[in-house]
Amino acid sequence: MGCLKGCVIIIIIILIPFLCWMESVDGIGANWGTQSSHPLPPETVVKLLRDNGIQKVKLFDADYGSLRALGGSGIEVMVGIPNDMLATMASSMKAAEKWVSKNVSDHVNNGNVNIRYVAVGNEPFLSTYNGTFLKSTYPALQNIQAALIKAGLATKVKVTVPQNADVYESSTGAPSGGDFRADIHDFMIKITKFLNDNGSPFTVNIYPFISLYINPNFPVEYAFFDGNATPVNDGGTTYTNVFDANYDTLVWALQKNGFANMGIIVGEIGWPSDGDRNANNQYAQRFMQGFMTHIAGNKGTPMRTGPLDVYLFSLIDEDDKSIQPGNFERHWGVFYYDGQPKYSLNLGTTNSGALIPASNVRYLQKKWCVMKDSAKLDDPSIAQSVSYACALGDCTSLGYGTSCGDLDARGNISYAFNSYYQKNDQADEACKFPNVSMVTKEDPSTRTCRFEIMIEPYFAGVDRLIGSVGSLVAGLVLFLALVL
Ligand SMILES: *[C@@H]1O[C@H](CO)[C@@H](O)[C@H](O)[C@H]1NC(C)=O
Ligand SMILES: *[C@@H]1O[C@H](CO)[C@@H](O)[C@H](O)[C@H]1NC(C)=O
Ligand SMILES: *[C@@H]1O[C@H](CO)[C@@H](O)[C@H](O)[C@H]1NC(C)=O
Ligand SMILES: *[C@@H]1O[C@H](CO)[C@@H](O)[C@H](O)[C@H]1NC(C)=O
Repeated sequence: MGCLKGCVIIIIIILIPFLCWMESVDGIGANWGTQSSHPLPPETVVKLLRDNGIQKVKLFDADYGSLRALGGSGIEVMVGIPNDMLATMASSMKAAEKWVSKNVSDHVNNGNVNIRYVAVGNEPFLSTYNGTFLKSTYPALQNIQAALIKAGLATKVKVTVPQNADVYESSTGAPSGGDFRADIHDFMIKITKFLNDNGSPFTVNIYPFISLYINPNFPVEYAFFDGNATPVNDGGTTYTNVFDANYDTLVWALQKNGFANMGIIVGEIGWPSDGDRNANNQYAQRFMQGFMTHIAGNKGTPMRTGPLDVYLFSLIDEDDKSIQPGNFERHWGVFYYDGQPKYSLNLGTTNSGALIPASNVRYLQKKWCVMKDSAKLDDPSIAQSVSYACALGDCTSLGYGTSCGDLDARGNISYAFNSYYQKNDQADEACKFPNVSMVTKEDPSTRTCRFEIMIEPYFAGVDRLIGSVGSLVAGLVLFLALVL
């Protein structure tokens, strides 16, 4: 009995790290996409993730370089099977086994990569795909799950299917009216039942920005978390932000169809910073910080209390993404293309409460391609040069309400030229628009508009190439030694 006090204290001391660990067990995740003309080296990105306390990462494929760099980091990984591979995975068990063996087992067993999920497809039921992937998603999911079981990984690695929030809807407009979309109801039930039976989560991407983008009458305040929106009353439960309402619409849809206890992952959530009048650093900062603060207390949503499992969209801007959905598409990053933070954001994971920039980023020289002073605005070649530069460069920061929307005509033209020039690694030939362009060492950037300097190109697999050249040389030496 004499030890009671001491023992209790010792037990509490032992429990402290455990309790703290429990608090942050879900952590914060981020999406790491690689559709960039100049991606940062994977090692730099992994350090960026670690420095910022991001414990989970979601990939859109199974890029070898990214996975190798993640080895030994402890970061939880979701690897992805792109939609265009679904048909193959659906029709061939062999193909599914090969995919799992090469893109999961190898990395888990030989690379110490902490793979926890396989995303089978990416928003395959998006209305804009016209049902292209409706039939292949479910059999692909079954085959990948069977391959994971065969590889002995099914308890550690779970399958899931990231869906756009448009797979469910509400007949009443309120969350309690939630159900799967009528035209895909049966497909959704089959997939959800399979996931549920296998202890897998439902993954959904939720985009308040898109609500605002597609509907000019959408109440702006309802997209954010400041509580300023006119509340939506759902049978006594009030909603003041569309994220909670959307998430709970899914909770109701799951509950209604017999999956009340199924885990939910928010696979993508974020706000772009450029390319649209509602996409800027102020709104992005307000949304992201509001969201982080909203989920920090682990209160959950009105229908689901407890910590939320979330992957921010996105980690870094990607300048090669299709702009078919809109010019904002290349600006989802919390970080710019070069790993520099866009705005202040406290993820609750760093000592300083600030984002940590990427380290040792190697830039090209401090020079820009601009319109020549002597060139005339009415030079007939200009229009053609600008459209060429914009088609192959990136002009998504030009236009109404964007970061470079205030440039004058000469500024516009220079911006286009520079984008093309930087994307082409500042090659001399890339600043030879006939008679109208020149290279300058004076930064043309304005207060809001960044005339970028590109980072050094990273050649994925360079060391593998060197490896094979090395073995070629070694082979030659061996050959000579044998002959002589
Ligand atoms: C592994 O994943 C990569 C990247 O997504 C893909 O290109 C490759 O075909 C996959 N390997 C197999 C064997 O399916
Ligand atoms: C879907 O259908 C529309 C209209 O028929 C068409 O314009 C679009 O290209 C189709 N999209 C795909 C991905 O097949
Ligand atoms: C600059 O370019 C943008 C987008 O192409 C255009 O909307 C704007 O009118 C241009 N501004 C001037 C002054 O030419
Ligand atoms: C460039 O300028 C020169 C001299 O001013 C002129 O002769 C030539 O035709 C111009 N070239 C083009 C492509 O405009």
